[in-house]
Amino acid sequence: MDLQLEHDVALAALNSFGVAARAARLVRVHDAREVRRLVDDAQLGACRKLILGGGSNLLLTRDPDALVVKVEIGGMRVLRDDEQGCIVEAGAGVRWHELVVWTLQQGLPGLENLALIPGTVGAAPVQNIGAYGVELADRFESLDAVDLTTGREVTLDAATCRFGYRDSQFKHALAGRSLITRVRLRLPRPWAPQIGYADLARRFAGGAAPSAQQVFDAVCEIRRAKLPDPAVLGNAGSFFKNPVVNRTIRNEILEEYPEIVSYPLDDGSYKLAAAWMIDACGFKGRALGRAAVDARHALVLVNRGGASGAEIIELAQAVRAAVRDKFGVELEFEPVVV
Ligand code: EPU
Repeated sequence: MDLQLEHDVALAALNSFGVAARAARLVRVHDAREVRRLVDDAQLGACRKLILGGGSNLLLTRDPDALVVKVEIGGMRVLRDDEQGCIVEAGAGVRWHELVVWTLQQGLPGLENLALIPGTVGAAPVQNIGAYGVELADRFESLDAVDLTTGREVTLDAATCRFGYRDSQFKHALAGRSLITRVRLRLPRPWAPQIGYADLARRFAGGAAPSAQQVFDAVCEIRRAKLPDPAVLGNAGSFFKNPVVNRTIRNEILEEYPEIVSYPLDDGSYKLAAAWMIDACGFKGRALGRAAVDARHALVLVNRGGASGAEIIELAQAVRAAVRDKFGVELEFEPVVV
């Protein structure tokens, strides 16, 4: 079957911010073969491409000047489950939360801390999603991708993906060059609950070790209480990364703001809670036009209805300037800005 090209497609429903933009051309791919066919296509092969998963880590500030490739590759299966470990594989178009739920239903724990993260399986490695003490890199085995210049299919390991904090090679050298088709995850055996993160530690303090289902339920409950649901109020999760600073800078800030929340990292540096700093700048709940800083979680910017990408960026710049003025720290955006 030929590739089905769609013209002048509204993107508001395809990005979790719900920002209105239009794609001049959009093509949906359902397997690696279709991706290769796209690369080989005389017309479409050479044009610039914007790869779209769940659209939950994306801020559109204009109509993309590229062919939008919507990844709709499905399928989930267990590749192995024995004393050596458990490996599951999922298509890039599967919703991440659906994979988490499915693995638990199969009796395969390990992803429960990552419940309710919006977006698709294929987008998960791009920003190395993480929450409640676990990140994708901790569970990653390998992924398959198609090189969009050569059409070649490759399997990439963790070292090639270069995972960092909300970061990977797919945001750098491989951006727009490589389309992820399948992801394989290694679930830890033996399994033990990861409940070190403050919110979870508090919840399970003093009790018996929770089951994976109990951790899953707790994570869902905490997220629902703290983070706005993109289906109700457009957003892309955390809009800023938590900045990492060295010990000297952290101590200077701590002297002036003893309540600041920070976490020590293995290399001696510190991650500062950006939400706390934004909150301290009085930005929580503040609106600028149709964009706002969420009233419950200061790290999340929301679309109050009809906001443009430019309005959201304007608010983000104002937040960034306030944090820079008060704390001398530069905040970095988490979503990809087009
Ligand atoms: N805080 C405030 N004001 C707020 C919100 C939070 O002062 O409005 C304080 C909290 O009291 C807490 C600290 O800031 O002491 C950190 O807050 P939280 O535990 O909610 O985590 P976070 O650092 O803000 C990160 C991730 C989230 C992830 C949570 C849980 C980043 C950029 N964000 O948020 O990921 O769910 O930890 O692990 O690392 C995402 O990336 O989209 C995302 C939601």
